[in-house]
Amino acid sequence: MALPRLLRVLPRALPALARALHRAVPGVPDFNSFVTRTNTCGELRSAHVGQEVTLYGWVQYQRQGLFLILRDFQGLTQIVIPQDEAHSHVKKLLSSAPVESVVRVTGIVSPRPPGQENPKMPTGDIEVKAETAEILNSSKKLPFELKDFVKKSEALRMQYRYLDLRSFPLQHNLRLRSQVVMRMREFLCNLHGFVDVETPTLFKRTPGGAKEFLVPSREAGKFYSLPQSPQQFKQLLMVGGLDRYFQVARCYRDEGSRPDRQPEFTQIDIEMSFVDQAGIQRLIEGLLQYSWPEERGSITAPFPSMTYEEALADYGTDKPDTRFGMKCSALGSLRLGSADLLEAAGLVLRDPAAFHFLWVVDFPLFLPKEENSTELESAHHPFTAPHPSDAHLLYSDPTKVRSQHYDLVLNGCEVGGGSIRIHSAELQRFVLEKVLKEDSEVLSHLLQALEFGAPPHGGIALGLDRLISLIVDAPSIRDVIAFPKSFRGRDLMGNAPDYVTPEELEPYHIQVSWPLEEKEAKQN
Ligand code: AMO
Repeated sequence: MALPRLLRVLPRALPALARALHRAVPGVPDFNSFVTRTNTCGELRSAHVGQEVTLYGWVQYQRQGLFLILRDFQGLTQIVIPQDEAHSHVKKLLSSAPVESVVRVTGIVSPRPPGQENPKMPTGDIEVKAETAEILNSSKKLPFELKDFVKKSEALRMQYRYLDLRSFPLQHNLRLRSQVVMRMREFLCNLHGFVDVETPTLFKRTPGGAKEFLVPSREAGKFYSLPQSPQQFKQLLMVGGLDRYFQVARCYRDEGSRPDRQPEFTQIDIEMSFVDQAGIQRLIEGLLQYSWPEERGSITAPFPSMTYEEALADYGTDKPDTRFGMKCSALGSLRLGSADLLEAAGLVLRDPAAFHFLWVVDFPLFLPKEENSTELESAHHPFTAPHPSDAHLLYSDPTKVRSQHYDLVLNGCEVGGGSIRIHSAELQRFVLEKVLKEDSEVLSHLLQALEFGAPPHGGIALGLDRLISLIVDAPSIRDVIAFPKSFRGRDLMGNAPDYVTPEELEPYHIQVSWPLEEKEAKQN
């Protein structure tokens, strides 16, 4: 090819060449495949100078009809609005585009004039001189500014969640979450032979544990229940010989929302056959080390371990924050809130950047339902096996039995919990009927399954939302969930839960006696 022709063709061929190279590098995603843009708004550098590029994005802001800052998930690019007569149409269009409108710009990457580089911007050495442009969708004035979203009321942010999602912090959190889950799948499936199995979310009420959401059925008086976790199914999968199960599982608990609690949330749910407590702990340490985001440093394993009794005696809680340089007991059994105050006063030291994992083990198998009550409930759940050295006490003094239940605590927050399970039908029936005084009939399917050669098994569930919120240092798990619920469990964007008509209720044999004021509100 003659040199002049090569010089003409090369700049145009470069983006395609770069993309081909990209594809050849494993682990580096190609953001520009299948679409007509050549680059994202965060990608261009000095090396791209001279290239003709096509960018798509949102108008972040526009300066005096001279510049327009275009934004997408990856960053910002400065677009130079042409001032010459030949480009008067492009000038008019770009200088009048409202903030947050969606725009396509094609132009040439140019170095910024000396002294006008912006070292704070990854694309700050270049700008794109617009040749053609199109407003793909003009935006109305936003209900809040995206830049300082932190100062806006959370209710407003949740009402316009799709706008809040455009902000860099939420983009970062959701992308990091996706990466962590992808690494977890890799570790579990590819490296350790786990099988990803989906389990039903229409099930039936189970005894004990959290309050469940009911779902009406067409059979009069019969209801499904949304599972608080896939606990029974994962045990049944072990009976089914699946051997190693995991699921990114959606769980439902009707217990209101708090900064670390949502009515629907996600667990990394795991179960293994022929495993003991130490085996599950080593698996989880390996899983977290493998999937830990590079930007947050690395974590060391094995994680330290503490018994439930030691935790209560030394820290006054079963989820101690071991970032504190001093045990709270030394200061008189203080709770975390007080420790925060002491830290503010400079009386205790906490390393804010550190991730302190801790296993809490040897929980009691049962706890009194209420203080001084003789009625017992499971400390974890009724499927948890007793500690081998205490099993004989089950029949004489169940309150003295420790369990094979373990919690994983990170910086004072419970990020996981699990146990070795009861695999004997006889023992499971005894625990349900004689200790917990539950009607074992609702669990007859599980009790029956245990009679057909159930393997010894155990598992754990990690609270994914909590884990990610701690990794990104977010004040609430709502900041790592795309569409979270409000404190009162409402979806403020779509306005759920919502009324349904008596006609819609009819197939379910349900009648609602409306509170008067709500009935009036509904009619208005
Ligand atoms: P558990 O009830 O301890 O165990 O739940 C496991 C982990 O899930 C997280 N979690 C929550 N996260 C957000 N919002 C909530 N409402 C919420 N509730 C719990 C916590 C918790 O540690 N089936 C058993 C696990 C097992 O035994 O294998 C279970 O669900 O981080």
